[in-house]
Amino acid sequence: MSSSVPEHIAIIMDGNGRWAKERGLPRTAGHKEGGEALKRTINACKDLGVKYLSVYAFSTENWKRPEEEVSFLQGLLLQALHNEVKKLAKVGVRLRFLGDLSAFNSELRENMRKAEEATADNSNHQLNIMLNYGSQDEIVRAINQAIKEGKEVTRESFSQLLYTSGIPDPELIIRTSGEQRLSNFMLWQAAYSELWFTDAYWPDFNKELLQQAIDDYNSRARRFGGL
Ligand code: FPP
Repeated sequence: MSSSVPEHIAIIMDGNGRWAKERGLPRTAGHKEGGEALKRTINACKDLGVKYLSVYAFSTENWKRPEEEVSFLQGLLLQALHNEVKKLAKVGVRLRFLGDLSAFNSELRENMRKAEEATADNSNHQLNIMLNYGSQDEIVRAINQAIKEGKEVTRESFSQLLYTSGIPDPELIIRTSGEQRLSNFMLWQAAYSELWFTDAYWPDFNKELLQQAIDDYNSRARRFGGL
C-alpha cells in the first residue's frame, strides 16, 4: 500500500492539567507547556507536508472551568498572537480562528482578525484554531442559517454553512491523554476520519508521535463504505 500524508489532521489537545499535576505544578503550567507542544506540532506538520492542522483550543464547555483558568488561557492566546503571528506569516502558514468568537473580548477579537488578515495570502499551510467551538452548536447554527435562507440543503451546501467551510474534512483525528471520545469536536467533519489515540499528555506530544499516528493511518485501509 502506498504511503501518504493526510492533507488535514485535527487534534484534540488533552491532558495539560494532568501533565502539570503529575509534576506538582499548577494547571496553568500545563497549558503553557501545551503551547510549546503546539508550536512543535505546527513545525512538524510543515516538515511532513500536512496542509491543514486544526486544533481544539477552547470548547463551548470550557467556560465551566474556574474563571482564573479561563482568563489564563485567553491571556496565553493573546501572548501567542503577539509573539508568533509574524513568524507564522513568514514561514507560509495561514491562520484561521473557528468558533463563536463573539464571546471573547474586543482586544482578543481584534488581534485574531489582524492575524487572519496578516496571513491570508499564505496557501501552503493552514492552522485552524478552534475557539469557543462546539460541533453541536456549529450544526444547529448551520440549520438555522439554512432555514433563514429558506432552501433545502444538500450535504455539500450544508458543509458550506459550517465554520470549516472550504476546508476538506480531516482524514485523521488525534486525541492525546488516553481519552477515547470526540467531545463535541468536528462531528459532521469526522464522518470518515481515522481516529488515533495516545496515552501521552498533550505537553509531551512531538514529531515522533505525529509520525506514529500517520504511519498507523497509512496502515489502515480506508474504504469509505465500499469494498
Ligand atoms: C486540554 O487539557 C487543553 C485545553 C482545554 C486547552 C488547550 C490549550 C493549549 C494547548 C494552549 C495553547 C493554545 C493556544 C491556542 C495558545 P486539559 O486542561 O483538559 O487537561 P486535563 O484533562 O488533564 O485536565
